[in-house]
Amino acid sequence: MCLKLRLPRAIFLPLVAVCGSLHHILLMRASFLSDLDSMLRPDTMRIIMKTTIKQSAGSAAPDTKQTHFGYETVSGSEKVQRVMGVFSSVASQYDLMNDLMSGGMHRLWKRRLFSLAAIGAGSRVLDVAAGSGDIAIGLSKKMGASGRVVLTDLNGPMLAEGARRVIDVGLLPGRADCIQSDGTRLSFADNSFDCVTIAFGIRNFLDISAGLAEFYRVLKPGGQFICLEFSRPVLPLLDVIYDAYSFNMIPLIGEKVTGDRDSYQYLVESIRRFPDQGRFEKLISAAGFDLVKYENMTGGVVALHRGYKI
Ligand SMILES: C[S@@+](CC[C@H](N)C(=O)[O-])C[C@H]1O[C@@H](n2cnc3c(N)ncnc32)[C@H](O)[C@@H]1O
Repeated sequence: MCLKLRLPRAIFLPLVAVCGSLHHILLMRASFLSDLDSMLRPDTMRIIMKTTIKQSAGSAAPDTKQTHFGYETVSGSEKVQRVMGVFSSVASQYDLMNDLMSGGMHRLWKRRLFSLAAIGAGSRVLDVAAGSGDIAIGLSKKMGASGRVVLTDLNGPMLAEGARRVIDVGLLPGRADCIQSDGTRLSFADNSFDCVTIAFGIRNFLDISAGLAEFYRVLKPGGQFICLEFSRPVLPLLDVIYDAYSFNMIPLIGEKVTGDRDSYQYLVESIRRFPDQGRFEKLISAAGFDLVKYENMTGGVVALHRGYKI
């Protein structure tokens, strides 16, 4: 069964807002519909329809295994729900907070990702945990009019922000598509993309290795994986300054700007929970990627990892 929607802008925009606020599934059809259909798993449309009805956060059965949500110990199902709660709560202020918290540095980190992305005219790119769409928009500029980018995110309100932005810059319809999907259970067929990217998303996953295995699966042979993520400061004293700033200032800025201190407390704690540069590099290799390497940015506050499906 396959549901195809072609909507005029005037209907599409309000629909995005409604879908986002209800945490409903987003399925934005673009003019490269036939391309995308060949990338989607045959059962995806049914999954999307079912998920719409159930308003599922992505897991089929409750996951009772213990894991962490920041510094708390919770069940897997609770973690997914609480992570979705965080992003639903911050979605409308996400871009402003990114600039405030990083002093605009996130733009430089992302620029480095754009320059290293091995893409060009005609490339097909998947941006996982796409959020408000910065990465998708930057990569699309690099590919030009014949490139295609799919934004995917598990969170409806965040993906709605991304959809709004790709529409505003004229990429949708035509050069971009938005599909709600769990990064650990992607709705795309094997060997579909030339490049898979994820920025500041993977530390929120319930199962990081499952996510990496999915990125590997959907990449074409010869394809490139790039990940930006917070990591461990490697310069003397930077860790002390960074800890002081992030534990004291970030929750405070979050509270003042969004009224939601807890979400920003989670953000800081989730960064400390995520594997350091070296351990993450090994996880990427264990998922099957070759030629894996990383570079530190801002003294290791952020690391950019790359790997290839050969
Ligand atoms: C910090 S934001 C990053 C957004 C964007 N990539 C950027 O760099 O600005 C993290 C994103 O990860 C998404 N996310 C969290 N868990 C996810 C999962 N299991 N699958 C897909 N996306 C997920 C959140 O909804 C959120 O949009």
